[in-house]
Amino acid sequence: MKNLIIAVDGYSSSGKSTLAKGIATMLGYIYIDSGAMYRAVTLYCIRYGIIQNSVVNMELLNKNLNFIDIKFQLNSLTGKNETWLNGENVEDEIRNSEVASNVSIISKIPEVRKKLVAIQQKIGENKRIVMDGRDIGTVVFPNAEVKIFMTANQLIRAQRRLLEMNEKGIKISLNDVVENIKQRDFIDENREVSPLRKADDAILLDNSNMTRDEQLVWIMQKINQL
Ligand code: DC
Repeated sequence: MKNLIIAVDGYSSSGKSTLAKGIATMLGYIYIDSGAMYRAVTLYCIRYGIIQNSVVNMELLNKNLNFIDIKFQLNSLTGKNETWLNGENVEDEIRNSEVASNVSIISKIPEVRKKLVAIQQKIGENKRIVMDGRDIGTVVFPNAEVKIFMTANQLIRAQRRLLEMNEKGIKISLNDVVENIKQRDFIDENREVSPLRKADDAILLDNSNMTRDEQLVWIMQKINQL
């Protein structure tokens, strides 16, 4: 099989990262979580007071953008690709609730998107990557050989997310998770720059009634047919 770029886009909690990691493992490709990059920029903005009470100081952000260095590094113990911000491993911190509640504001900013898209395209220069996000098949790699667009019913996504949160010891009601998912879908679909859209040539995967293994088998068959 020739070297490919595989773009996985879709709604939040639709299982993008699980599928993307599965494909990467099957093919021996690198997996890149583009959402982690938006989270890392958000963490930087929180730390340096660039975002405060949901308001972004654009002048300060523009002054700092060149000093934000984001890299992925393989952790040989866990086998996971981890996110590094200016030489510091921030893989856990970028998943905290403060970052989560500010990341949609930061990811709307065109200057931030321009910088991160350029880094993502550089990472993809040698192909053999699976990247997941919201605009990978539409903006980052419009010529990707494989594009997958993932969705699932909102309630099912909320139930999956609730399970994940409960496993981490976070107590929250199903209703609150449903509301949060609706809000995130709205923001992702309605943002002015690079809104979440299915690329015309993307394979649609609605996994509402599919197990993880079924999804992987299904998509690997499609990839192998190429
Ligand atoms: O996939 P995630 O939840 O970790 O993404 C975090 C945020 O980043 C989410 O608000 C959507 C945004 N994002 C984006 O705008 N473009 C991407 N390619 C990936 C994520």
